[in-house]
Amino acid sequence: MALIEFEHVFKRYPGSSSAAVDDLNLHIQAGEFLTLLGPSGSGKTSTLMLLAGFEAPSSGTIRLDGASIGSLPPHQRNMGVVFQSYSLFPHMTVAQNVAFPLSVRKVPAAAIAGKVAAALDKVHLQSFAQRKPNQLSGGQQQRVALARALVFEPRLVLMDEPLSALDKKLREEMQLEIRRLHRELGVTMVFVTHDQSEAMTLSDRVAVFNQGRIEQLASPQTLYDAPVNPFVASFLGDNNMIQGSLEPDSRPAGELIRLRTAGGQSLQGRCGDRQKLAGDSSATLCVRPEFLQVAAQGGVPVGHNCLDVTLIDLIQQGDHWRLLARLPGAGGHGGHEEPRWFAKISPGVLPPGLSVGQNLCLGFRPQDAWVF
Ligand SMILES: Nc1ncnc2c1ncn2[C@@H]1O[C@H](COP(=O)(O)OP(=O)(O)OP(=O)(O)O)[C@@H](O)[C@H]1O
Ligand SMILES: [Mg+2]
Repeated sequence: MALIEFEHVFKRYPGSSSAAVDDLNLHIQAGEFLTLLGPSGSGKTSTLMLLAGFEAPSSGTIRLDGASIGSLPPHQRNMGVVFQSYSLFPHMTVAQNVAFPLSVRKVPAAAIAGKVAAALDKVHLQSFAQRKPNQLSGGQQQRVALARALVFEPRLVLMDEPLSALDKKLREEMQLEIRRLHRELGVTMVFVTHDQSEAMTLSDRVAVFNQGRIEQLASPQTLYDAPVNPFVASFLGDNNMIQGSLEPDSRPAGELIRLRTAGGQSLQGRCGDRQKLAGDSSATLCVRPEFLQVAAQGGVPVGHNCLDVTLIDLIQQGDHWRLLARLPGAGGHGGHEEPRWFAKISPGVLPPGLSVGQNLCLGFRPQDAWVF
């Protein structure tokens, strides 16, 4: 049995015409690190608040160990919560902040000091117990918030963008810290972010949210290698897309499918959504920039796709080059956005003498592209 089960959960806020959480079905396994990832307004915080008990579902059921928790107030749910803002009590010391959930839960005073010391030890802040929050760095404050969420040994720790206020370096340090804590304590963690690399660093599984619904729930590797639609492909990792129509003789029977672009080019990719493709002749091909090679026109190996493009920029990014290319037929005079692709090319394989304005071929293997 899953630790947590959301069954057909809806959340509609008063006065709002659309659902913030729209028929959510989600099982969270004991001990896993699950991340809710998605754009702003997609329902991540709402989902977390429903789980923590700070909001009630409009309909549907949330179960903990198989029993509905609809009537349980937050402090009886045994869940530690870390919010986006540090939300420490400014007038209390670090030790008093961490002790707070224990006193609320009527833990005997004699037991509190030991538990606080152990929690501060877990986040490596033993020597900071007597400081006030304003005497700490952002990262240290966030660790106090984490210690406060862990101190009563909750079954679940819920974190809503806990690292978003930190600079990149500190953020990456804290990600490793949270990873370590998850491994050491074996506690179930549900983490909210809209940062895809953070999601990939931390998670056993990631739920990609869009408009109150989960588009795909899978391991980071599966989301990256086998997204179920262009939204997931574009949200996790970089992605190039081109639209076209399926070639009449290319029905989705086999592994590969062929489409013809508006510019008249014929491209092959893996069949992403068989059902949709069977009923629709328009389709989108997606391919990640690291799978693209650059060649002179006509210079790609037999069996590879070749997309004719014009080079519009070439940018050195340290460990790779970023090539920006314009697709044929995209004049840019229509006022709408030009379709552009970009490629990530290792310095060692960048053809010499490339110049802006030059016509090139972007080559890629059919099995590295998806058609949806
Ligand atoms: N208290 C509220 N009252 C009314 N509408 C709300 C309330 N809280 C959130 N919403 C709406 O519900 C939707 C989902 O919001 P939510 O805060 O869950 O998104 P989110 O994915 O956490 O976004 P972000 O990444 O910006 O934090 C949004 O359209 C938002 O405007
Ligand atoms: Mg939010």
